[in-house]
Amino acid sequence: MDVFSAMQGLNNVKKFKPDAVDDKLVGVILYMAGQATSAGNMQEWRFIVVKDEKQKERLFTTCLKQSQMKEAPVDIIVCADLKRASTKYEKRGELVYSLQDTAAAIQNMMISAKGLGLGAYWVRAFDEEGVKEIASLPENIRPIAVVAIGYPESMDNSDRFDFDGLTWVEKFGEKYEISYIIQQPGVRRLPKPIGNMIEDAVKKHKGKGKKTSFSKFLEKLSG
Ligand SMILES: Cc1cc2nc3c(=O)[nH]c(=O)nc-3n(C[C@H](O)[C@H](O)[C@H](O)COP(=O)(O)O)c2cc1C
Repeated sequence: MDVFSAMQGLNNVKKFKPDAVDDKLVGVILYMAGQATSAGNMQEWRFIVVKDEKQKERLFTTCLKQSQMKEAPVDIIVCADLKRASTKYEKRGELVYSLQDTAAAIQNMMISAKGLGLGAYWVRAFDEEGVKEIASLPENIRPIAVVAIGYPESMDNSDRFDFDGLTWVEKFGEKYEISYIIQQPGVRRLPKPIGNMIEDAVKKHKGKGKKTSFSKFLEKLSG
């Protein structure tokens, strides 16, 4: 799976299959999490792999009874070592970088899970003290999220905004239009915002049941 297809439609799992996940695959996901970038290369992330049914039941309760926590064969508690973060960057490290760095690691986890044919569910709504107690976390280790991993039974399918409405050039409000015309002899085409072009290409390929290959699409784009 190319990296673009892995990011395209990277949704959370709505329902997991009960099938166990091989530790080797969990290992790959954790390895990729650790490949993420971090401020000053602090790598202050720490991971607790939870597979025990009783522990998962306790996590389920502490995470506001979100079913994915006990349905998924594996829950990974993603933590930040605040002592490490603040040693290097004081409050900024503790309050900002610790969240951004762990989020980058979690995104890697979600992409690599998809690349392995698995799915993930990112949860932040939980009682921190409860999660600390379940995983016996030392004072300086803060639980940032719990990511459930498993084989998807069904996926969320929420849309994403068009980047046209999210992106400005030079200043806020200055519209940033990237449009392309794919030249075809004798065919008069109007420039089209790139976001729409990508979506059209995805729909067309999917419509024909073809595997969407972004590298092919990028080739076309770059003419
Ligand atoms: C930082 C973060 C925290 C989240 N926490 C929760 C959560 O506690 N419970 C939950 O049901 N979903 C949670 N989600 C999942 C989002 O609700 C989900 O991403 C959103 O509904 C869009 O769905 P999709 O990404 O599957 O398309 C979280 C996602 C992120 C990025």
